[in-house]
Formats: sequence, C-alpha cells, structure tokens
Amino acid sequence: MGFCSPVCKILRRGKYFVLLILSLSVLAWIATFSGETVKSVLVSSATTQALVKEVTLRDKLNSWTAAPDRVNTQPLKTECPEKSPLLQGALNLSFESSLKLKDVEGDNKDVNEGEYEPSDCMARQSVAILIPHRNRERHLLYLLHHLHPFLQRQQLHYAVYVIQQAGDATFNRAKLLNVGYLEALKDYSWECFIFHDVDLVPENDHNLYMCDKQPKHLVVGRNATGYKLRYKGYFGGVTAMTKEQFLQVNGFSNIYWGWGGEDDDLRIRVELQKMKIVRPPAQVARYTMVFHKRDSGNEINKDRMKLLGRTPHVWRKDGLNSCSYKTLSVERLPLYVNVTVDIGKPQS
Ligand SMILES: *[C@@H]1O[C@H](CO)[C@@H](O)[C@H](O)[C@H]1NC(C)=O
Ligand SMILES: *[C@@H]1O[C@H](CO)[C@@H](O)[C@H](O)[C@H]1NC(C)=O
Ligand SMILES: *[C@@H]1O[C@H](CO)[C@@H](O)[C@H](O)[C@H]1NC(C)=O
Repeated sequence: MGFCSPVCKILRRGKYFVLLILSLSVLAWIATFSGETVKSVLVSSATTQALVKEVTLRDKLNSWTAAPDRVNTQPLKTECPEKSPLLQGALNLSFESSLKLKDVEGDNKDVNEGEYEPSDCMARQSVAILIPHRNRERHLLYLLHHLHPFLQRQQLHYAVYVIQQAGDATFNRAKLLNVGYLEALKDYSWECFIFHDVDLVPENDHNLYMCDKQPKHLVVGRNATGYKLRYKGYFGGVTAMTKEQFLQVNGFSNIYWGWGGEDDDLRIRVELQKMKIVRPPAQVARYTMVFHKRDSGNEINKDRMKLLGRTPHVWRKDGLNSCSYKTLSVERLPLYVNVTVDIGKPQS
C-alpha cells in the first residue's frame, strides 16, 4: 500500500484532471456553438431587413415613376399641328452689343440644358442642332438669342450642342460636326440633325428646322450675297439630314482642315447615294450673316480641290466610321451642351 498509494494518488489525480479537461472542452464547445448561433441569427435578420428595405424602395420607385408616366403618356398629348400656329414669318433681327448671356437665359426659362419640348403637344420631330465653335462667343450669343424662340415657335423637341474645338490647330468644321452627331446620339435617339454655322441667323420661322425625305439645304440666301444662292450645288451654312441619311453617306470627311471644301464634299457623298438636295422657297430660306473677319486658325484650305477629286474613292473609309477624337469635357449649360474635343491636327 505504502508503495501503491503515491501511484494511486497520481492516477486518481489524473482522473480528475481528465474529467476537468473534458468538462472544460464541453463548456468551450457550448460557448462557441451558442456564439455562432447568435451571430448567424443576427446576420439573417440583417439580410431580411435589407431585403425588406429593397422591396419597399422598389415599390416606392415604382409608384413614383408609374404615376407621372400615366399622367404624362403620349396618348393624352396630341401631335403638334402640321403648321405651328405660333409662326410669325419674316422677323426684324436685332444684334445689340449690350446683350448678355444672362438675358438670353432669362428669356428662355423653359429650355433646360439646351433642350426643349412643347408642353401642350407632342413634337413632330426630335432635332439636334450642332454648332461647331471656337472663339466666336459673340456670334454664338446672337444665334442663341434668336434660335431658341425660333425653334420653340416651330413646336419642336430640340437640343442645342456647341462643339468646341480645343487647342489652336487649324479649325475643322466637318470633323466637329461628325463628333457632334456621335456625341448627341449618346443623349437621345435624335431623328434629325441640323448642321449650323455660328454666324448665320435665320430671318423667317417658316424655314422649318425639320428633316425631309431628302437632305435639305436651308440657306438659299444671306444678306451678304444679296440673298442669292452662292453657287449652284452650294450645300453649306445650315443643312438638315436625318440620322439615317447622314449615316448612309458616312457623315462628313474628317480631313478638311481650314476654310472651304467640306460642304462640297458632303454634297458629293449625297449625290453618290442618289439622294437629291431639297431647299425651301427662297423668300423663307433667308439668313443674316453677322459680320466678322476671317478667323485666324481657319485659313482657306488650298488642298480642297484635290481632296474633292478623291471623294468618290475614299468616302467609305473617311467619315463617321473613322472619326477619332478625345472628349475633354461635356458641360450642360442652361442654353446648350458644350462638348469640348481634341480632334488632333492636320497631318503634314
Ligand atoms: C421691321 O422693320 C422695318 C423697318 O424698321 C419695319 O418697317 C417693319 O414693319 C418691321 N417689321 C416687323 C415685323 O416688325
Ligand atoms: C448683314 O447684316 C448684319 C447684321 O445686321 C451686318 O452685321 C452685316 O454687315 C450685313 N452684311 C452685309 C453684307 O450687309
Ligand atoms: C466650352 O468649354 C470649354 C472647356 O471648359 C471652354 O474653354 C469653352 O470656352 C466653352 N465654350 C463655350 C462656347 O461655352
């Protein structure tokens, strides 16, 4: 016994020790398990809460969007009449040197980020007005001053885009207009495009800024030329083409840097597609050209005749489908969207 008792003592102690370890681990297991349950309960209640939130939010969104939709749906708005009752005919245009952008904004409160839509009828066409621009702020102001009320009297859904050429490389009107077409279509599926010089102001609102079955040339005359067509086949200044017509001719050429040629190039493209240019009557297709000197950075393009000779061979590859540019900014101002782009420079 004397020998056994220390051994038995150890064994006995070991038994307690094993028991102790066992019970401790049972306790530990219970603790971990219950902890996890609490955690998982918490998680699942959080997801339910999120789900509930999402569902109610969706319901709310639905009720917000659905209700005005029902009130505003087109069937209640009838199509605007074929001839707008708001037209005034020939206008006396004014070009006040005291005119400010704020004044023009104040006169056109219904224009929002350059866009307008008649409130009482559904417009017959959605039209994007594209104005290539650089350093002609005064002309742009005069044009906006006259053009916004003019387009509203025609009961159009329209938006004005100013495409600003960044930098001081030679100006490229045609490429800017290609950019305008591509950028405007990102906002809305415009069915008609008006390619508009900044210095030409329409004098008669019967000159409709809408597209026809054929490409339309809107400037028959301007005060600077005694209101005569500059030459047979002239297709510059202000033109109107549908989205499809413009796509069909692959847009403008991108390679006319400086003044002249790009409008004749577009005419050739149109003629190659067997389309026929139409014009409104001479007494309504009248414009005032606001006086200016030739801009620096827009010198006469001496290569234009050579380029025009190549148009029938290159139009498929040079146009909308090859127009590369970098959009630097898109500013949505009250009266127009200012798209500023880097279109590169002429290759020497
Ligand atoms: C435009 O101005 C001319 C000359 O100032 C005037 O005779 C004519 O009545 C005016 N027209 C309109 C529509 O105001
Ligand atoms: C055309 O009218 C505008 C505005 O009145 C004027 O600045 C410009 O000098 C006129 N041009 C000609 C050739 O009369
Ligand atoms: C368009 O935006 C550019 C870049 O901010 C600016 O330099 C230019 O003056 C703007 N042009 C117009 C007509 O607003």
